[in-house]
Amino acid sequence: MTAGDLLLRRVIGLTCEDLRGPELIGRIAELVAQAVDADVCFVHVVDRDAGELVLAGATSGFEHLAGAIRLRIGDGVAGWVAEHGEPVLVRDKWTDPRYRYIPALRGEEFNSMLSVPLPRSRGRVVGVMNVHSRLPDRFHPEDVERLADVAGLVAGIVETAVLYDRLAIREEQLARFAARTIELQELDRRRIAGDIHDGISQRLVSAWYHLRAAGDLARGHPVAGELAATEALLSEALDEARHAIAGLRPAVLDDLGLSAGLRSLARSVPGVRVELDIDGCELAPHVQTAIYRITQEALQNVQKHAAASVVRVKLRCRGRDFEPGRDFELTVTDDGIGFDTGAAAKATSYGLAGMHERTLLLGARLDLRSFPGRGTIVRVVLAPYDDL
Ligand SMILES: Nc1ncnc2c1ncn2[C@@H]1O[C@H](COP(=O)(O)OP(=O)(O)OP(=O)(O)O)[C@@H](O)[C@H]1O
Ligand SMILES: [Mg+2]
Repeated sequence: MTAGDLLLRRVIGLTCEDLRGPELIGRIAELVAQAVDADVCFVHVVDRDAGELVLAGATSGFEHLAGAIRLRIGDGVAGWVAEHGEPVLVRDKWTDPRYRYIPALRGEEFNSMLSVPLPRSRGRVVGVMNVHSRLPDRFHPEDVERLADVAGLVAGIVETAVLYDRLAIREEQLARFAARTIELQELDRRRIAGDIHDGISQRLVSAWYHLRAAGDLARGHPVAGELAATEALLSEALDEARHAIAGLRPAVLDDLGLSAGLRSLARSVPGVRVELDIDGCELAPHVQTAIYRITQEALQNVQKHAAASVVRVKLRCRGRDFEPGRDFELTVTDDGIGFDTGAAAKATSYGLAGMHERTLLLGARLDLRSFPGRGTIVRVVLAPYDDL
């Protein structure tokens, strides 16, 4: 086996390990440096938007500079290679006009270098790999060949690592957006609850007192019956307002957490036995709120439409492939009459649509299955390998 083949094999071997980003690229840099007997190796990736090369990984001693060193495309030896897509062998750095001294990369310690493009399809260059030696005139055409052989493979790995990082950043941004949106929704609900409590409820209470007083005065008078009926109606309106406030502002969630929140929801479904099977989950507050709201709507639907005798609420956070603190699976299963999920959407109903929206916001999936005469399953899953 040639030295080039061995290098390729080792690099391929590395890709099978569970390494990511700068760490993986750093390990590749070590292998490359060893293979051509270089002192250091730097792997730069192209940032097209900025028109720059960014250090993505390096041999040990420089690994902390990943992401921190930027070179303009066209500038320096690496910039020239990125622009022209051709390797450059520099026997003596100090006489090559393209060379730029970068203090953090300790250019003064090295005298010769070799720089190869990391090529992708259609002549595109995704990065540049540089090796440096303390010795002058250390690298030769066969080293160029050896690096060029491995460059295609490294290009694929580097591109995947960059895409992976971008995806991770996107995911983080999305999670922050979801958290903020859910937080704003909750703030809005609290404001509405506050308005009902301080406005409508207070006035209903005052009106109720006045009516009672009028009822006392009118005892025996023909209008007394009407006054009593109005009083009863007002009392019902007050109950409904209290109910709406309780639904709008789940204080229990803030004070006692998700498990207590779900237990309190379970108690709020009269006439149906609610069985709870809940993992103690350490989930982000906005995810807890979303799970609470989805369960609340699912249980309300069971109560309003299902004519069920039993409903089971199950929450799992420690599944196979689950990322702890992030992933979960919620199922609400009833044994009611079921319905046609395809025909259920009505212009006037918000419940299922709201569930869909909340699920989408979390990046989760909602699976709604209903079997006429046998019941309904609402399942919400956030997990990387879930294939509903
Ligand atoms: N568990 C269930 N069992 C039987 N039917 C259901 C169930 N869940 C939903 N449905 C049916 O799906 C329809 C749509 O549900 P959705 O929650 O969107 O609206 P809603 O409950 O009627 O009104 P809203 O939720 O806006 O107060 C319901 O009207 C009902 O016919
Ligand atoms: Mg509903």
